[in-house]
Amino acid sequence: MSVSTATKEDRLRALIPEDRLQARIAELGREIRGAYGDRTITCICVLKGSFVFTADLIRAIGGDVKCEFLGVSSYQGGTQSTGVVQITKDLSDTIEEQDCIIVEDIIDTGLTMHYLLDMLQVRRPRSLAVCTLLDKPANREVEMEADYVGFAIPDEFVVGYGLDLGELYRNLPYVAVYTP
Ligand code: IMP
Ligand code: MG
Repeated sequence: MSVSTATKEDRLRALIPEDRLQARIAELGREIRGAYGDRTITCICVLKGSFVFTADLIRAIGGDVKCEFLGVSSYQGGTQSTGVVQITKDLSDTIEEQDCIIVEDIIDTGLTMHYLLDMLQVRRPRSLAVCTLLDKPANREVEMEADYVGFAIPDEFVVGYGLDLGELYRNLPYVAVYTP
């Protein structure tokens, strides 16, 4: 009789190592700052998944950057988007007349970002762009193209660098494919 001895680490396969993440984020920062000139940029961090990415991205953008946080839950703990977006924390300040960038960890079906764009557009920002670290274009249920994309990845469930499975793995410094 064989007993399964698979450890947590056996279920993780590195997809994007730390040095590639950091190099790409430095590029994104330069690209974004170049596009906005010396204007103040309000980065809207979508919690929880994008807090690690946002922390690195705002430093890569440089110049005048404000930071807002929006709490969103779209998974209810599993690995499938439910399409039901729950706001768990709203912005703490107005974004009216500000140049805003929604900073996301990953766009999968596109349902969450679709909802967030609708929700934030009515608050009359001066501009509203989307920056996502990861993009899984194969799985779209609504049309959605981010203005800034770190990496396009295949349709696999990933964890690390802020992304979780049941609240774990957010503290991995790299992105890994999780195989149950
Ligand atoms: P969407 O609504 O399907 O586009 O999914 C958006 C949200 O689902 C993301 O902001 C993530 O929080 C989560 N998500 C989607 N794919 C993954 C994944 O592969 N790993 C971890 N979280 C994911
Ligand atoms: Mg997210």
